[in-house]
Amino acid sequence: MTKKDYVLPSLNDARRRNREKSEKLDFSLDEKYHELGKNKKYCIVTHGCQANQRDSETIAGILDSMGYVSCDDEKTADLILINTCAVRQGAEEKVLGEIGALKRLKTYNPDLLIGICGCMAQEERTVKLILEKYRQVDLIFGTHNITSLPKLLYEIYTDKKRKVEVFSKMGEIVENVPVSRFMSHKAWVNIMYGCDKFCTYCIVPYTRGKERSRQKEDIINEINTLIRQGYKEVCLLGQNVNAYGKDLNQDYTFGNLLNDVALTGIPRIRFMTSHPWDFDDTMIEAIKNNSNIMPYIHLPIQSGNTGILKKMNRRYTREEYFELYDKLKRELPDFAFTTDIIVGFPNESDEAFEDTLSAVDHCEYDNAFTFIYSRREGTPAALMEDLTDHRVKEERLQRLNEKVAYYANKNNQRFKDQIVEVLVDGISKRNSSVYSGYTPENKLVNFTGENIHAGDIVKVKITEVLSFSLNGVLAE
Ligand code: 5AD
Ligand code: SF4
Repeated sequence: MTKKDYVLPSLNDARRRNREKSEKLDFSLDEKYHELGKNKKYCIVTHGCQANQRDSETIAGILDSMGYVSCDDEKTADLILINTCAVRQGAEEKVLGEIGALKRLKTYNPDLLIGICGCMAQEERTVKLILEKYRQVDLIFGTHNITSLPKLLYEIYTDKKRKVEVFSKMGEIVENVPVSRFMSHKAWVNIMYGCDKFCTYCIVPYTRGKERSRQKEDIINEINTLIRQGYKEVCLLGQNVNAYGKDLNQDYTFGNLLNDVALTGIPRIRFMTSHPWDFDDTMIEAIKNNSNIMPYIHLPIQSGNTGILKKMNRRYTREEYFELYDKLKRELPDFAFTTDIIVGFPNESDEAFEDTLSAVDHCEYDNAFTFIYSRREGTPAALMEDLTDHRVKEERLQRLNEKVAYYANKNNQRFKDQIVEVLVDGISKRNSSVYSGYTPENKLVNFTGENIHAGDIVKVKITEVLSFSLNGVLAE
């Protein structure tokens, strides 16, 4: 492949933001691609967050409409796509290991195509590495290039050359893209893309581009279609859902959207993720006034120390976070609250870490997703001095996790002997005589019963409380 065939992504270009309104495009599949996947099987491996899960459903939808058939076994696939995550180094290493292992499959099936997409495809360093060292990869496309997949596959089949298409900047929203959802009762619904918050540790604003909201009509239409298809739950997705609508200049905010989504009558509504920044009263009112908005809020704190929060560019102090958190707890008393926490941010002192522990004592979260800081090249935090030993960071994580488990267990005690409503996901992965599903508060419940199907909403009596799940029996 000559250099002219592709342009490497650039985190530098991806950093730039403009005030231009995002363009809305309509997807259509050119007739010449309709039969391209005939007699071919594809397998998608998805890493990372819900945005990636939802992207994989779009990729599956596009491939299905081209005649490909999905399969779970990489060994029988003609096309393997790995949808990657770049948020922490561990996730990247796992993917590189996976790509290494796939090489072997090409010896059995020389026609096999291997593609890499998602957030790692947006990093120049990673794309260079894959092009140089992982010759088995035939295709690399970025988070902004998913709808180019038919064209890219067509070109690979015709030119027999590797293809790379990664745009660093994109202000577009593409509607009417096919989707093949992986679940038939719960659905992810993107309400916005990208992130403009630029927390100093985070790669996401670079890999997913500028904040841009979908039109409310498109969101509501998607949810009405899901209701007709029998879906029971939607999760409204965005890196920072509170910012919904700000780019549309329509005086229509996330609180307004929540009210309109609630009016569709779908039984369960969730949303992810809320940044403590501009979690406004309209949102609180909407959540309070609509019983189909589930009593669960994920509110990342990241650190309990104001100095570290400042270095993280989180835009709030410890006290401001508590002020919002205490207000939410007051206004929404039976809700479950979870958070994200990073330990070992560059030069986090013992005292700063103790502030994080005491913040967990203050908030008594139902659960927390905890991470050791991972240096992401291209982000401002990557340039900060960090003299803390990795072992110290591991010890901090351990102490934090013990505290999180203590409060998770304490919070779960209120469900002992109670009857809860569970939206059933299906048979438990661990035990085939046990079903599993989630309560409105997003508590995982494993329970015994008969004649139950995925998508049923059933009443379950809780018999045993664990830190991160509840056990019970069908109550009707
Ligand atoms: N290192 C560790 N954790 C990170 N997160 C984001 N970037 C990093 C990083 N560089 C965590 C944050 C975020 C969650 C999705 O991942 O806590 O909320
Ligand atoms: Fe990353 Fe911060 Fe944006 Fe979340 S809000 S995606 S942590 S930059």
